Order: sequence, then C-alpha cells, then structure tokens
Amino acid sequence: MRVAMIGTGYVGLVSGACFADFGHHVTCVDKDAGKIAMLERGEIPIFEPGLDDLVARNRAAGRLDFATDLTQAVREADAVFIAVGTPSRRGDGHADLSYVYAAAREIAAAAEGYTVVVTKSTVPVGTGDEVERVIREARPDAQISVVSNPEFLREGAAIEDFKRPDRIVVGTDDPKARDVMTALYRPLALNSLPMVFTGRRTSELIKYAGNAFLAVKITFINEIADLCEQVGANVQDVARGIGLDNRIGSKFLHAGPGYGGSCFPKDTLALTRTAQEAGTPLRIVETVVAVNDVRKLAMARKVTSVLGGDVRGKTAAVLGLTFKPNTDDMRESPAISIINALLDKGMKIQAYDPEGMEEARKVLPAAVHYATGAYEAAEGADCLVIITEWDAFRALDFTRLREVMAQPILVDLRNIYRPDEIAALGFAYESVGRGEFDRGSQHRHGL
Ligand SMILES: NC(=O)c1ccc[n+]([C@@H]2O[C@H](COP(=O)([O-])OP(=O)(O)OC[C@H]3O[C@@H](n4cnc5c(N)ncnc54)[C@H](O)[C@@H]3O)[C@@H](O)[C@H]2O)c1
Repeated sequence: MRVAMIGTGYVGLVSGACFADFGHHVTCVDKDAGKIAMLERGEIPIFEPGLDDLVARNRAAGRLDFATDLTQAVREADAVFIAVGTPSRRGDGHADLSYVYAAAREIAAAAEGYTVVVTKSTVPVGTGDEVERVIREARPDAQISVVSNPEFLREGAAIEDFKRPDRIVVGTDDPKARDVMTALYRPLALNSLPMVFTGRRTSELIKYAGNAFLAVKITFINEIADLCEQVGANVQDVARGIGLDNRIGSKFLHAGPGYGGSCFPKDTLALTRTAQEAGTPLRIVETVVAVNDVRKLAMARKVTSVLGGDVRGKTAAVLGLTFKPNTDDMRESPAISIINALLDKGMKIQAYDPEGMEEARKVLPAAVHYATGAYEAAEGADCLVIITEWDAFRALDFTRLREVMAQPILVDLRNIYRPDEIAALGFAYESVGRGEFDRGSQHRHGL
C-alpha cells in the first residue's frame, strides 16, 4: 500500500518508518525543510533508540522517502496520516488544531481517487468531523473517508510499541476504510492483532481517557509518596503492595517529580476543557492537573531544604534533563520548572543529560552551565540532583563524586538508589516518599 505521513516528528517518523518496515511504501512529509534535509542526508532529527537503523534500512530498500510538499505523496496514497503537532493553545489550554486543519486543507487539494485520511495526532472529540467538513468543503467531489487512529507509542520505546502494540484503535463507521486500516496493520497479525474498531468520536476520546487515567495513576502515587514522608512509610513498598493486585497493576506507580513530556500535560488539560464545555467537568482530572503543577516546585523545595534553606550562591549538579530517559524530548520536562525555581533562589546549575542538552539549551535559561558528563557536573557542587533516571546514572561512583563535590548530598527524585547504601557511602540522601529513611523524620513527626 502507499502511505503519506504528514508531519515527520516523534510520531510521524516512527510510524512512517515502521509502516515502511511492514512493506508499505511511505513518504514522510514535513513543512520543516531543515528536518527533511537532515533525513535526506541520512541524519535523524530526534533521538529515539533504533530509529536510525530502521530509517536507513527502509530508505535503502526504496520503501521510505521524504518530501516537504505533500502533493505527489497524497495523490498516490491509499492512506494519508495526519501526524502533526496539537500543542496546548495559549491562554485556554485547548488543543491547538490549526496544524491539523491546515494539513486537511492541503490534503483536500491533492487527493485523487479513494483516499483514507487518518488522524493520528491526538485530537479532541469531534475533530474528525471537522477534518471531514474541511475536506468536503474544499473538494465536494473527493472520495475520502476520515478515520481516527490515535497513537499510543511511548518515546524511548517507540519502535517496539508501534510494532507490538497493546491495541490499535480505529474509529470509523465506513467498512471500506476499515478494510484499508486492517490491510495497513495486517503485517502485525502474526502477533494476533488486537484491533479495536469503534466510532470516530469514541476513538478520539479513548486516547484522552487513556492518557488521563495514566496521569491520575502517577499523581495518585505521588500524593501517597508525600503522605509516606509524613508518616514514616516507604512509597516503593506501598506501590509494590498495591501493584501486585491485578486490578491495580504495577505500572505507572513510580513516585517522582511529577509527570511531564509532550503528551500528558497538554492532553489532560485539553480533556478538562472538552469536558467543561460539554457540561460534565472531569473533577478528578482537573485536580490531577493542579496537583502535578505544584509538585515540581515542591521538588525544588526538597533541594533547598536539604541544603538548609539558604542556597544563594550554592551549586546544584543536575543529572537528567529530558522528561524521561531514552529521548531528547524536553517538552514540559519537570527539569525545566525545577531548574528555574533553583535559579530564582540564586543557585548555580551545572547540568548534564546524555541526549537532551541540545534541546535543553533551547528551553532553559542561559545561566545553566552544561557539563560533558556526570562527574564534571558534580565538580564543586553542594548537592547532586537526579531528575531523570537515565541508565548512566544508576551506578554512579560515589567515592569519585565525594572527591569532586563541595558537599556529599544527593537528592534522588527517581528513587534510583537505596537510602541505606547511600548513607553508608557518607552521603546525605533525600528521595521521594521514603519517609522511614528520611533523616530525622521519625523524630520530627514523633513517630
Ligand atoms: N510524542 C509522543 O510520544 C506522542 C505519542 C502519541 C501521540 N502523540 C501525538 O501525535 C501528534 C504529533 O506529536 P509529535 O510528538 O510527533 O510532534 P512533533 O512536534 O515532534 O512533530 C510534528 C511535525 O509536524 C510538522 N508539521 C506541522 N504542520 C505540518 C503540515 N501542514 N505539513 C507537514 N508537516 C507539518 C512539524 O514541522 C513537526 O515536524 C500530537 O498530536 C501528539 O499529541 C505524540
């Protein structure tokens, strides 16, 4: 089959390369000429494990190409995917759909013959109706079906997720479009394809409901972590103790600095707006959004309080800047709020991230100093703060760190290390929700 992928970002490039790997012919289109030029030179504009190989292999096989103009690819396509960004709209938190509708208008102008237009971007309920209206208005003669097919891949494990999905959700009432979608994903059938066919609006809502539920789960364990700190309990044991219950499940129960990334923050917010407009506010999700927002500042306070409160002129070494490991994506990373709060308090920041520093430079204040490795970042620092749990930070040499740091203090916002281990190495240690180990916490709370 022939596929046109409109938008060659984290989702478009991974999906396009995977469809090509299934044997389809895919053209990935992007307005960003710089991005397309890089891809044509054989460079990958983002960091995603395995993507360079996958793209190179499928380009060499003649199944994957790139373009800045969609006309030819759309004209020849059986299916055109819209995978452009849907960021939060400034001011009201709704999803900004201007890129989606712009793509729809361009698709309308170019489509020939029967074409399935598939919205892969995360879009609010009813967007498919509007995409269809936009296309039919421009081209009343167009033979199109507009389908919703939300993407559930996780950055950092995107190829595996695309090729071995828990489910593929397809929203359409049109049997012909359903056949095209089934044919597109058929190469996955060996792994007994878990396709969920549903109405278009339902499909659009599934994506938001899924992300909102996961955000609730993370925020729930984060609040339990706060409680653990106050009552001298251990959140990791609580998470294990509840996660082994199949009705709850162990995933997304890791307490940390609050969720970030390119999806959860904007999608939870957009869902609350949709619900408010529909007259059925989602109070749980609204609360989750608010709780998660303040959490990042609470994490900065953790750092300043372990340093005794007066931190002006002190230095924090920050390890991990991206919103999670194995990506270079800095969008809404908790590190942004935490670092800004520490800079506001007069601290100096020496930061290191294995893949995210180029993106970080675009979003963090110029005052941040970037190091070439964890130990360089730690040089002269009054405390070491782990914000993102890259593998490279899981077995740090604490003897070496003690030698280079001004004070041996570790704030581990991902609970990578064991408190007793770190204490034995002579470090003061602060983590998330492990109250029974917090220095003085028992005494403080009379427990
Ligand atoms: N990143 C994720 O992990 C993830 C996971 C699931 C769903 N999603 C959703 O997928 C969508 C895309 O996300 P992303 O992270 O890939 O975004 P992205 O910003 O990385 O990529 C979007 C790309 O679309 C391009 N673009 C915009 N308008 C265009 C047009 N008219 N024609 C051609 N190209 C155009 C942009 O230049 C950009 O390269 C969003 O709706 C997002 O919510 C993302």
